[in-house]
Amino acid sequence: AQARLTIDPAFTQGRIDDRLFGSFVEHLGRCVYTGIYEPGHPTADADGFRQDVIDLVRELGVTTIRYPGGNFVSGYRWEDGVGPERPRRLDLAWHSTETNRFGLHEMASWLDKVGGNELMEAVNLGTRGVQEALDLLEYANVPGGTALSERRRRNGADEPFGIRMWCLGNEMDGPWQLGHKTAHEYGRLAAMTAAAMRQVDPDLELVVCGSSSHGMDTFGQWERTVLEETYDAVDFVSCHAYYQPSDGDLASFLASGVDMDAFIRDVSATIDAAAARLRSSHRVAISFDEWNVWYMDAEPSKTPEGIGNWPVAPRLLEDRYSVLDAVVFGDLLITLLKHADRVRSASLAQLVNVIAPIMTEPGGPSWRQTTFYPFALTAQLAKGGTVYEPKQTSSTHDTAKYGAVDTVDSVAVNAPDGSLAVFAVNRSVDEPAEFTIRLPEGDVSSLDARTLHEDDPMASNTLEHPDAVVPHANASARITDGEVHITLPPVSWTAIRIG
Ligand code: AHR
Repeated sequence: AQARLTIDPAFTQGRIDDRLFGSFVEHLGRCVYTGIYEPGHPTADADGFRQDVIDLVRELGVTTIRYPGGNFVSGYRWEDGVGPERPRRLDLAWHSTETNRFGLHEMASWLDKVGGNELMEAVNLGTRGVQEALDLLEYANVPGGTALSERRRRNGADEPFGIRMWCLGNEMDGPWQLGHKTAHEYGRLAAMTAAAMRQVDPDLELVVCGSSSHGMDTFGQWERTVLEETYDAVDFVSCHAYYQPSDGDLASFLASGVDMDAFIRDVSATIDAAAARLRSSHRVAISFDEWNVWYMDAEPSKTPEGIGNWPVAPRLLEDRYSVLDAVVFGDLLITLLKHADRVRSASLAQLVNVIAPIMTEPGGPSWRQTTFYPFALTAQLAKGGTVYEPKQTSSTHDTAKYGAVDTVDSVAVNAPDGSLAVFAVNRSVDEPAEFTIRLPEGDVSSLDARTLHEDDPMASNTLEHPDAVVPHANASARITDGEVHITLPPVSWTAIRIG
């Protein structure tokens, strides 16, 4: 296979918003409990935050954190997680017991300790409505002098949390969601909630729920109806997407980025159609606030059952990621970058233990999954940069799900330090690809290429072998006559820095 990327510095796609490197912490399984929070762990600080996890979160380079759900938020009473009384509650989304030992204050302190990362808070529009959203906003953001803001101060936070970005519910199109609604019902509720929240603070950034996946039966119609109800009152519409192989069809799985790309294009078109119909000059962006590989039909994702069985922090959704998964994951990131003009926020779902790049053992060590590396390297090289207009040609191959697809997918970024970063995947199951990058005029002093690939694409990192899979220098990379030439092995992801 062959592919060629041409970089023309005169044409850029858009500046990359830092929020593109966001992640997601849900009260689900062991993401919070024994993930980021484990009082008594050898590395835990006085607040019970695991320092080993904080170190890995910093290394990963995540920015905004979406919290506290996910499906969890649609039954959540935020008041349970603040103050001295922490009632134990049923979590219907994940059939677990929520102890509420960790709540809004703990999350804000944890983010401060990680490095001042932004909190993106979701309100419950499943079992609750406008008043509870207003209460949470008053509690979190009003400096003082009212019942709820003074309650926050009594609970230890003198200064308001100053949360700017708010999700108006979660996946309200999904029949599995507590308080699932039709597009009309949700659109009206979201519009009323947005208007009410803006009476408290007109400068908030609000995210309205789009579809839970590109494949939902209501996809398209949902966005159209919801956006027509809410358009001028919101700043983002959400997209969620998870990918897994079906029936062993690895070729289609490796081309998952094709579906994400079409999803973003379809939602962008729907946004533009709503703006046109409403004659609005307001720009609504996409918040791709859940994306990942997720083996949702496999054993680790089976929720507990039984009226007497509501475990605390069970092992749920603890997928172990292979090199294959990391290559698909890296391609999803490439796809998000290619749409940096429309996708202004994204959250990798999730951060620790639950379909996560970081794994922990209670009382024991933490380690990086294969997916950690594409995220960390992309964040390290591209954050703050500008994406060049994608100009790539590639040989193609056939897939059962998406027809003929480009064998190589790539994107180029003008990094803030003046270097050039290129990210590329070879989606072929068995063929290497010769990849050429036509560089802009100018001197090149350094070339560094790192590739994630193993002869066994199912290789993964485990508690016993935490460093079995790491990216390696790609020795095939060379520069001749203003072009970079590099060989991309089959099922591989590569980051190239040209200084
Ligand atoms: O991230 C896991 C779950 O996936 C979230 O709770 C939900 O929003 C989505 O269906």
